[in-house]
Amino acid sequence: MKKTIPDFEKMKQAGEKISMLTAYDYPSAKLVEDAGVDTILVGDSLGMVVLGYDSTVPVTMEDMLHHTKAVRRGAAKTFVIADMPFMSYATLDLAIINAGRLIKEGGADAIKLEGGLNLVPIVESLTRAGIPVVGHIGLTPQTANQLGGFKVQGRDLESAVQLVKDSQALEQAGVFLLVLEAIPRQVAAQISTGLKIPTIGIGAGLDCDGQVLVFHDLLGLFERFKPKFVKQFAQLGQEAVQSIHKYHEEVKFSLFPADEHTFGLSDEVIQKLYGDK
Ligand code: KIV
Repeated sequence: MKKTIPDFEKMKQAGEKISMLTAYDYPSAKLVEDAGVDTILVGDSLGMVVLGYDSTVPVTMEDMLHHTKAVRRGAAKTFVIADMPFMSYATLDLAIINAGRLIKEGGADAIKLEGGLNLVPIVESLTRAGIPVVGHIGLTPQTANQLGGFKVQGRDLESAVQLVKDSQALEQAGVFLLVLEAIPRQVAAQISTGLKIPTIGIGAGLDCDGQVLVFHDLLGLFERFKPKFVKQFAQLGQEAVQSIHKYHEEVKFSLFPADEHTFGLSDEVIQKLYGDK
């Protein structure tokens, strides 16, 4: 059964962890749904793991809509969250229009934005307009340059306190889930116990109310770099290369297609077609 927003809060109250995984297209969404994961994130990480950019910054609204629609087709029974790409929520008007498109056209159940206190007016407007919002603080890849690169956040007292304040302000503004990326586990624990809404960690330790990973990282399909917080549960990239190489060889040595992959004609039709020749 498709989870609803109150289900996530009930899971936190019951101490039941929430699993979230990214998906970007029909087959990945179908695999994630079949595996029973609680919620899918159509992350703008698709810019890096699917589209081959160096960061998430170039991802457009059209990219996000295209992929969110495909995910919805592959996972009709799963709660789907779509990322708002960089600059698509730079003003209140843009935020409402673009978030509305991800829900209405993309079929998402909620949207996710990166940022803390600065986002409060936007989160309030979106929730007032009936759009469910997920927050994302800590390492926020869209603004990684301002953070000094892809680095752990909240390591000193001042930035840790700021993260706690950000989390409280976002909850107050109406987010129903909060992603905590690349922050020390003690800071994540303090944020998680201080909030009623569930936190979803990525590189934020075990004390979050749930965890999220990138699909390609979990399956070993993205080898360009591997952050410390990634656990590869499989090495499908290597397996895929071996399988594709085997196909290549079988074509070269006329081993593929075999009889079982080939259509034939009955002797009678062959006789009529070619006569006695
Ligand atoms: O874009 C994404 O995949 C994300 C997750 C890493 C949380 O934002």
